Amino acid sequence: MSEKITPYNDKNRSKKDQVAEMFDTISGNYDGLNRVISFGIDIKWRKKVVKLVHKTNPEKILDVATGTGDLAINLCKTGALEIIGLDISAGMLNVGKDKIKAKDLDNIISMVQADSENLPYTDNYFDAITVAFGVRNFENLEKGLSEILRVLKPGGIFVILETSIPTKTPYKQGYKFYSTKILPLIGKLFSKDRSAYSYLSESAAAFPYGESFNNILRKIGFIDVEDKPQTFGVATIYTATK
Ligand SMILES: C[S@@+](CC[C@H](N)C(=O)[O-])C[C@H]1O[C@@H](n2cnc3c(N)ncnc32)[C@H](O)[C@@H]1O
Repeated sequence: MSEKITPYNDKNRSKKDQVAEMFDTISGNYDGLNRVISFGIDIKWRKKVVKLVHKTNPEKILDVATGTGDLAINLCKTGALEIIGLDISAGMLNVGKDKIKAKDLDNIISMVQADSENLPYTDNYFDAITVAFGVRNFENLEKGLSEILRVLKPGGIFVILETSIPTKTPYKQGYKFYSTKILPLIGKLFSKDRSAYSYLSESAAAFPYGESFNNILRKIGFIDVEDKPQTFGVATIYTATK
């Protein structure tokens, strides 16, 4: 990635600091906005991620950049014994903790405040690791992915769900209009943080996807890397192993 996109364009603060502050600020209305900006399709994408993980019958799962924990909650369907949702934003984690408690899932899911670029786990610990809409927020993408590789068991599955950009007409043009005109407007109308939704579309536009992202995963050391574009390519599910 050539240019560094940060939420507040503040050159004196790290991207990580700015990302944590932004997600703390929007945590209260993040879930609602997520449904609005994706027209609810994000629910379907998360279900696909769960299905892929379920097939491998994992016991221990790490959901990196878990945010308010939607994917971690859905991952309970895999029958895993231990699920950890990890995030740097205390605000997002608190919203998630309330949801987990309300669903009586706190015996399976623990929410941990930590940095994906310095994971507090031993090597080869998790059977499966997931990240949904998280990798493009990492300050140092390669460091975050290397840490994930380190704590994943050999043969374990790594599944990423991330925004991507449709390459075919007319979806390409439709997506550009939506992400540059409609998305920031929704952000302005519904969010307390006006920069947040401009950041989300700008960072999506600048982030590698498809074969470029596959190659980053391979460079880090992941094997059997595959990308599966979703809904005209507005999101992609990547799978890999170690
Ligand atoms: C767009 S949200 C996605 C949340 C959730 N996975 C979902 O699908 O709704 C991105 C999350 O990444 C987290 N994040 C960004 N950088 C991180 C890092 N270095 N370590 C851990 N979490 C991080 C943010 O705090 C935020 O909660």
